[in-house]
Amino acid sequence: MITHGPSDGGLEKIEIALLLEGIYRRYGYDFRNYAFASIRRRIWHRIQMEGLSTVSSLQERVMHHTEAFHRLIGDLVIPVTEMFRDPDTFLALRRDVIPLLRKLPYIRIWHAGCSTGEEVHSMSILLHEEGVLDKTRIYATDINESALQKAKEGIIPLEKMKQYTKNYQAAGGMQSFSDYYDSDQGIVRLKPFLRRNIVIARHNLVTDRSFNEFHVIMCRNVMIYFNSQLRSQVHKLLYDSLAREGFLVVGGKESISFTPLAERYETRNDQHRIFRKLR
Ligand SMILES: C[S@@+](CC[C@H](N)C(=O)[O-])C[C@H]1O[C@@H](n2cnc3c(N)ncnc32)[C@H](O)[C@@H]1O
Repeated sequence: MITHGPSDGGLEKIEIALLLEGIYRRYGYDFRNYAFASIRRRIWHRIQMEGLSTVSSLQERVMHHTEAFHRLIGDLVIPVTEMFRDPDTFLALRRDVIPLLRKLPYIRIWHAGCSTGEEVHSMSILLHEEGVLDKTRIYATDINESALQKAKEGIIPLEKMKQYTKNYQAAGGMQSFSDYYDSDQGIVRLKPFLRRNIVIARHNLVTDRSFNEFHVIMCRNVMIYFNSQLRSQVHKLLYDSLAREGFLVVGGKESISFTPLAERYETRNDQHRIFRKLR
């Protein structure tokens, strides 16, 4: 009998390619150009959780059982986020970007890959404190429907309160963090006025198109999961979706240097990965 496992490289690569191709054709989700090492790890995690032993057996299950597909998707997308994640970045936005946005009659911001919405709600607080929330519309999108559902609810898990309060202060928070939520029977929910100007919708950066023109695009900690070809493709989409002199913010471990569009941006803040579209 021929057996194989994670170490049987050549065959495993073929099986993973077939699985991802199958998912794309059957369900329309395109993971074919996600970074291989990370996607491979997650696929093997799912194989073990399903009590299976090969990629092909996972493919068989995923193709025929939608619930198995949803379980796999849950492993392939990584929803990790937090409020005022990298507080210094929000401080830099406050100091370097908001003063320029203030002059606009109307501001559009896109959070691409917003996960459960913590980054979006942080932005809302920041804009409120800077007096521009009322003239801003924030578009929050992600591929993951269940994450978006949580984003709509705006609930802050109790165990995160301490960390988020600390992050808020480090991000230059001007009030008390507790001014922004209501607490009822152990459930902490962000105040409705913070969620009023947010549009939450499903959007796949790989397969969907540009849908508006934005003054700021936040796409942090999303493209780290893509290979370089897909990164370039998504950078093109973001570039096309930015207004002239609009700002692109990527994650702390991300760069735009190796993308074909790098020279079309000026670096506004190198440390916090804030770039400005030139033309
Ligand atoms: C690690 S989270 C980052 C969340 C937030 N931007 C932050 O930095 O805290 C990555 C998010 O990217 C989303 N994502 C992955 N692939 C995507 C795609 N093709 N289109 C849109 N969102 C995607 C995942 O569902 C996940 O919610």
